[in-house]
Amino acid sequence: MVETKNIPLDEAMELWKKDRRDVLNPMMGPNVKEYADIIVKNSTNYFQKKESELEKEKIFSILEFLYPLALSNLQKTIFDNVPLNAADTISSVEEYMNITTAYQLSILKLPWRLPMPARFRRFKVAKKMAQLSDFIAEYCLSSESSGDNFFKKIASPMKNPDESARIHMRLVAFGIIVAGFASVARALTVACLYLSRYPLIWDKIYAEINDKIPDGNITSQNVSLLSYTRAVLLETFRHGNRIPFLFRTAIANHKIDGQYDVKKGDQMIIPLCYLDHMPAYWENSEGFNPDRFLNPLGERYNYVFLPFSIGPRGCLGRHFALMQASIILAIMAKRYRFWLIPNQKINIQRLENISMEFNKI
Ligand code: HEM
Repeated sequence: MVETKNIPLDEAMELWKKDRRDVLNPMMGPNVKEYADIIVKNSTNYFQKKESELEKEKIFSILEFLYPLALSNLQKTIFDNVPLNAADTISSVEEYMNITTAYQLSILKLPWRLPMPARFRRFKVAKKMAQLSDFIAEYCLSSESSGDNFFKKIASPMKNPDESARIHMRLVAFGIIVAGFASVARALTVACLYLSRYPLIWDKIYAEINDKIPDGNITSQNVSLLSYTRAVLLETFRHGNRIPFLFRTAIANHKIDGQYDVKKGDQMIIPLCYLDHMPAYWENSEGFNPDRFLNPLGERYNYVFLPFSIGPRGCLGRHFALMQASIILAIMAKRYRFWLIPNQKINIQRLENISMEFNKI
């Protein structure tokens, strides 16, 4: 068996790049619907538990409210109930993402030019993330966890499970913990900002759930009926874009539109933040209008609307993310209204400390 603990994460990443799509795509596709019931149960319990706290506090930070919920949904589903310290996990992932985003956005590759203590912090958090990934993978592959979890399912068809399973599993854990809960919590936070501004949309989500799922019992069978709720999320991704750029390296020489030369190895930036607002593609592009995603011609948004990117490096968790966010939004709309406290200074990049209050319906 390969002793993966001694393989640096970056090196292991090269191995992973070769076949992660083959291994993960079938698992992360529409099959994730099977998690809907767990997500509904966990999210409902979370709201019930938090309700009494919120009733006392009245004012709360929306992101800090949603972070532990999205993390616990990941824990209860893909990570098979792995015991994690929520506060510690959330702060490590936040720190890691802040540093890597700054690195990606910086033409000068800033972290390498930082003074030593700041650079050291980057390594410290990378090491922490590697330990966290190891812990999750080991737990899910161990006999402590259930016989049929996501990780064991991925490991079983591997050609050489003894040699490669552990390398792959820690990378799967790493990818999913980095990408899989903060993104959902942040998307929902932005959705709540829009809903606070457009209360009629809260009512339409409420009407949809009453109409399509009258007993309020969302399940893996009926979650796909929540098309308006889903459209609100898609419009949130478009109008309130959280991923402004995608980065790619050209793998061959190419001419775009017969006039722009791209050379193999060139760094390409795909500006989603512009594509999402271009009047050429979007009618009333500055308006917040979820209905545009109910349009049966929705397909025409392909290659223009890329909140989850596309192609071999596109988001592996898009079905999971959309399903989870739709469930949470529907549960919220059915029971509560969240309102932005007026006259507060909002940092739309960081989304931290945005205060809201809630009313029970
Ligand atoms: C609202 C939620 C989410 C958004 C907007 C989002 C968006 C994205 C985007 C744009 C990428 C591609 C980045 C690039 O091309 O450079 C990506 C990659 C990825 N996402 Fe997501 N994501 C979300 C949720 C999730 C969830 C819930 C999971 C897992 C459960 C997940 C797992 C991944 C993984 C593993 C990758 C890397 C794929 C690879 O390297 O091949 N994402 N995501």
